This record gives sequence, structure tokens and C-alpha cells, in this order.
Amino acid sequence: MRVGVLTGGGDCPGLNAVIRAVVRKGIKDYGYEFVGFRDGWRGPLEGDTMPLDRAAVSGILPRGGTILGSSRTNLMKIDGGVERVKDNMAALGIDALVAIGGEDTLGVATQLHERDVNVVGVPKTIDNDLNATDFTFGFDTAVNIATEAIDRLHTTAESHHRALVVEVMGRHAGWIALHSGMAAGANVILIPERPFDIDEVVAHVESRFTTKYAPILVVAEGAHPKDGQMELSHGETDSFGHVRLGGIGQRLSEEIERRTGKEARSVVLGHVQRGGTPSAFDRVLATRLGVNAIEAVHAQDYGKMVALQGTDIVRVDLSAATEKLKTVPDERFAEAEVFFG
Ligand code: F6P
Repeated sequence: MRVGVLTGGGDCPGLNAVIRAVVRKGIKDYGYEFVGFRDGWRGPLEGDTMPLDRAAVSGILPRGGTILGSSRTNLMKIDGGVERVKDNMAALGIDALVAIGGEDTLGVATQLHERDVNVVGVPKTIDNDLNATDFTFGFDTAVNIATEAIDRLHTTAESHHRALVVEVMGRHAGWIALHSGMAAGANVILIPERPFDIDEVVAHVESRFTTKYAPILVVAEGAHPKDGQMELSHGETDSFGHVRLGGIGQRLSEEIERRTGKEARSVVLGHVQRGGTPSAFDRVLATRLGVNAIEAVHAQDYGKMVALQGTDIVRVDLSAATEKLKTVPDERFAEAEVFFG
């Protein structure tokens, strides 16, 4: 059996741990051969491969990023893309694919499965917004990085009696903001799932200034105010066709200064949240997912995604991963709201 492996979409700590687990499990237990496809779906589309043997995965467990490279190439937007992938897989003698990715990558995998490509998916994203899995690897690492940054911002905010607005990633979901904000004791957490009221935010900031502490606000990049409360420019499309979020942190700090007369600063954590070595939790989760992805391939249980449910790794239909976004439920937000102000 020859198995192709690819990583698509935004990189994420733990990708290399999955690749290593897939390859080592497949070689050791089943004598499989592996082919690495470079840069997400671009690899199978263009037949761009790299060797993926025991030596290639040696020493990569703690490394961030992906040795295979990644891209946001969407096969479904390319004329004849699916046929080219099938032809390249046949030419390379590849029987099955392990696709490691988020919403877009797994969406393509779902459609390939419907067109008779043998594919198993592994969920990945720092955003933790994939349906049918309790956590995605990368999320824990991103939350830890954001938490450490917010801890550090507390002391500088206090020294200068300033409000500090910390903008974190998460795209259309507020998981990173919620978890890092709770872990680091933020005074306000703003998430896309709950459009905020700027008057309430300002009231929390002012109440915090009445104590000896300075307010820290954690804002998800996709957060937005209730209709018409503040002008925002985020959500624009860049020249590559990707929607660019962000900017809300800066905008909010300006509004806080204007309304409270207190100094405010904003910090955008950005891609630092995706870089570097994965946490122990993410390494273990990624490794378990990789091992179980090979079990799915061996069982020829294609069209499935391996997922964490409770403490177990289970298989769900690939389509379940992308049928809806897993967003922050109201009751989870309510637990954080206790500490606002
Ligand atoms: O999906 C992961 C993510 O980091 C989001 O949180 C963020 O909105 C987006 O990717 C950024 O994408 P890019 O790396 O293309 O700027």
C-alpha cells in the first residue's frame, strides 16, 4: 500500500507530530510506503512530491510548521483539478490519501471522496472551530502563547494606568479569545459569536480603572460591535482572494481613549500564535490522530475524519467536519462574563 500525505491551510503546531505518527505507524505495523505531497492540494494537483520515510520524520515531533509545506490551493476552484489529482495519484501508484487540514482542506477531501478518491481526514486548526471533534491540535498551543502574552501585558498596563486591548486569532470563532482571556484573567472578552455593546465595554473599562488595576481586553479578530456602533473595515478580501480579519483591536483602543479619556494601547498577536513548538497536549493529540488515521486507512474506512470525542479518538464522516462551524455556545461565554469589569 502506498499512502500520500498532505497538509493544507494555515500551518498549526502539531502538524509534524501527525505526519510522524502516520508514517511510523504505517511502516511499523503494516509495511506501508509513504509519499509526501508538497503545499497542500497543490502537491497532488501538480504531482509535486517529497520522500516520506522513517528518516524524513526523524526529529520532527517538537517542530512547529509542517515539513510538507502548506497552501490554501482549492482544487474545486481549478478546472479539471479533481481529474488531475486522480491521474497523478494513479501515476505515482498511490492507493490512499491522508489529508491533514481545516475546513477548506477537509471540504475538498469530502468532495474527492464523493468522486471515488480514497481519503481519510485529520482535523487541524488553531481556531478549534471544526465540528465533530472536541478539540483540534494547535489550539492548546495557541491559547498558551496568547495567555503568556496577556500575563505580560497585565504588568505594563498597570504600570502606565492604561487599557490594553489584545487582538487574538480565531477567524469566525471566539475559542482562542475565550480560553486565553479566561486563563489570563481578562476584564473583557469579545468574540464574533456575541456582537458587543460598546457602551457596556466602556463601562467595564471605567469600572476597572476605579481599582488599582488596569483593564485588559481580549478581542477575537472576528469580533464586531452591534449594528452601526462603530465603523470597521475588517473582513476585506486581499489580492489572493483571502478574507482578512483584524483591525478591531486598534479600532477599539481608539474608541476607549476617546470615550474614557484614558490611555489605551492595542497589541495584535497575529501569527506568533501559530508558530513554534506544540504543547505536550497538542503533541499527544496529534500523535493519537495520526495513529488512528492509519488504522482507518488499513480498515479501508475512507471518507472518514478521525476526531477527539471525550477522551476517545473516533471516526466520523468527513462531511460532518465541515457541515457547520463549531462556535462558542452562550453558556461557555456566560462562565467568562462573571469576571468582566
Ligand atoms: O485558521 C487559522 C488562522 O490563523 C486564523 O485564525 C486566521 O484568521 C487566519 O488563519 C490567518 O490566515 P493567514 O495565515 O492566511 O494570514
